[in-house]
Amino acid sequence: MWSKNEPHLQSLLLIVVPFLLVSTASAANPVSDILDKGRNITDGETLVSAGGSFTLGFFPPGVLGKRYLGIWFSVDEDAICWVANRDHPLTDAHGALVISDTGSLLLIDSSGQVVWSSNTTGTASTTVQLLESGNLVSRDGNASGAITWQSFDHPSNTLLPGMKIGKNLWTGEEWYLTSWRSADDPATGNFRYITDTEGVPQNVMLDGGKRIYRTGPWNGLWFSGVTEMGTYSDMFIYRLTSSPSEITYGYVAKAGTPFSRLVLTGDGLFRRLVWDTSSRAWKIFFQGPRDICDQYGRCGAFGLCNASAPSTSFCSCVRGFSPASPMQWKMRDTSNGCRRNVTLDCGNGISTTDGFVVMQGVKLPDTHNASVDASITLEECRTRCLANCSCLAYAPLDLKGGGTGTGCIIWREDLMDLRLVDGGQSLYLRLAKTELAHFRRSNNAELSQVNRSHPSRFLLGLLLV
Ligand SMILES: *[C@@H]1O[C@H](CO)[C@@H](O)[C@H](O)[C@H]1NC(C)=O
Ligand SMILES: *[C@@H]1O[C@H](CO)[C@@H](O)[C@H](O)[C@H]1NC(C)=O
Ligand SMILES: *[C@@H]1O[C@H](CO)[C@@H](O)[C@H](O)[C@H]1NC(C)=O
Ligand SMILES: *[C@@H]1O[C@H](CO)[C@@H](O)[C@H](O)[C@H]1NC(C)=O
Ligand SMILES: *[C@@H]1O[C@H](CO)[C@@H](O)[C@H](O)[C@H]1NC(C)=O
Ligand SMILES: *[C@@H]1O[C@H](CO)[C@@H](O)[C@H](O)[C@H]1NC(C)=O
Ligand SMILES: *[C@@H]1O[C@H](CO)[C@@H](O)[C@H](O)[C@H]1NC(C)=O
Ligand SMILES: *[C@@H]1O[C@H](CO)[C@@H](O)[C@H](O)[C@H]1NC(C)=O
Repeated sequence: MWSKNEPHLQSLLLIVVPFLLVSTASAANPVSDILDKGRNITDGETLVSAGGSFTLGFFPPGVLGKRYLGIWFSVDEDAICWVANRDHPLTDAHGALVISDTGSLLLIDSSGQVVWSSNTTGTASTTVQLLESGNLVSRDGNASGAITWQSFDHPSNTLLPGMKIGKNLWTGEEWYLTSWRSADDPATGNFRYITDTEGVPQNVMLDGGKRIYRTGPWNGLWFSGVTEMGTYSDMFIYRLTSSPSEITYGYVAKAGTPFSRLVLTGDGLFRRLVWDTSSRAWKIFFQGPRDICDQYGRCGAFGLCNASAPSTSFCSCVRGFSPASPMQWKMRDTSNGCRRNVTLDCGNGISTTDGFVVMQGVKLPDTHNASVDASITLEECRTRCLANCSCLAYAPLDLKGGGTGTGCIIWREDLMDLRLVDGGQSLYLRLAKTELAHFRRSNNAELSQVNRSHPSRFLLGLLLV
């Protein structure tokens, strides 16, 4: 009887068993957030964080071809926030994530070759856990439970709440985002999003080695050129850390804030996305570069970009400057920027007839080479600038306390990448006395229109300091 039926049974088992395996696997082994030494994650299996927010597994799911180990938002498997083997794809669905004898995370291909390693050393009892933050953390199994490796230290193209970019000043280690090559290719692309730690910290997008977009320097509230950050500060706490050990930027989500992520796309766009649970879609809260004026240095040195101006004349020169190459400027080539009309007096270090004109509503120029002093007032900043002939402009460092701000940024080199932004801040530009007089005469009428309730003299006092 049995022997007779065996062939049928076998073929039946061949069909049924795979289904049984799949269903029992999920029933018998409830999805875990922990991978212990000796176990592994194979293609098709996942780790899911304790609250279910994030999933680790192989992707693209259900598609033959290149396969990657990654972490994604469980609500949207296309929202991949970290990729292990981005430049070393697996070519079949037989990869496995294991913990090595020395506590390293290894991604093994079907032939047993290591295609990716966390390159860490710990003890044999290492455990790996996918946290609710989306961070994959490897911990020493001994009593200390010290973190030996974490995915948050190795960003891909996404900054999640709790992550940071910038620099460890002790080790020189840097954290930054690197774009995918394209929307469906996680390979390392050309764009990078860094926190530039020179001068005043600011975030910069690079294409290869070239600066292509800048947020403007951190002013205590937001990045000078991303005033939008003020409109969603009820959801996020921005963290700019500037200490002897590190200069970093990151953010955390306040309680009740939906899922969010900052993504550097394959075509060089930086986006802040927030998950809308009702429409089950990501909403774009910010995207940069926004417009022509966000293109780095679009109007050249001492040029001022006005995105509201007609498309033929968005570039102008700052007060007291005129195009360095008027013919080229006429032909819309503004790359040579502007030069000063009247040379500065500078004085002999004791007194000078130079003064300042305030440019209001701007994204501050590139601060990469600017010098900073957080400990002085804006008035002291002005005095310091006037006393040194090489000072071309100044601005407050910190606007948190309100008023005109405190601290001091001093520019000694060409002002680059200056633009107008809604809700922008003030920049104090040094000009020769005759230029200030010219400004005073020609702008009386214009200024009094700004606020008719002010006597124009008071306004001038505000604008010419
Ligand atoms: C993964 O675990 C399974 C079951 O424990 C085992 O049979 C398999 O050999 C492991 N694979 C790797 C690559 O370690
Ligand atoms: C690990 O080390 C190898 C060999 O030095 C290197 O090729 C690889 O990029 C490293 N992996 C990571 C994730 O840093
Ligand atoms: C735990 O392991 C780490 C790394 O191997 C080691 O530095 C530490 O001393 C160990 N702690 C204990 C309590 O064994
Ligand atoms: C910017 O351009 C708009 C539109 O032409 C104009 O109304 C505005 O005055 C300009 N802003 C400045 C500061 O020049
Ligand atoms: C600067 O000089 C140019 C030409 O020399 C002139 O057209 C322009 O009006 C001057 N600007 C100011 C603010 O004096
Ligand atoms: C900073 O100064 C150096 C040396 O003068 C110059 O080569 C570089 O272009 C400057 N960088 C920026 C971003 O202005
Ligand atoms: C002006 O600033 C430059 C650059 O920081 C410095 O080398 C020079 O000594 C300063 N001059 C005076 C008179 O303070
Ligand atoms: C004009 O000045 C008055 C008095 O300081 C102020 O209340 C008002 O908000 C100002 N209006 C504008 C448009 O700035």
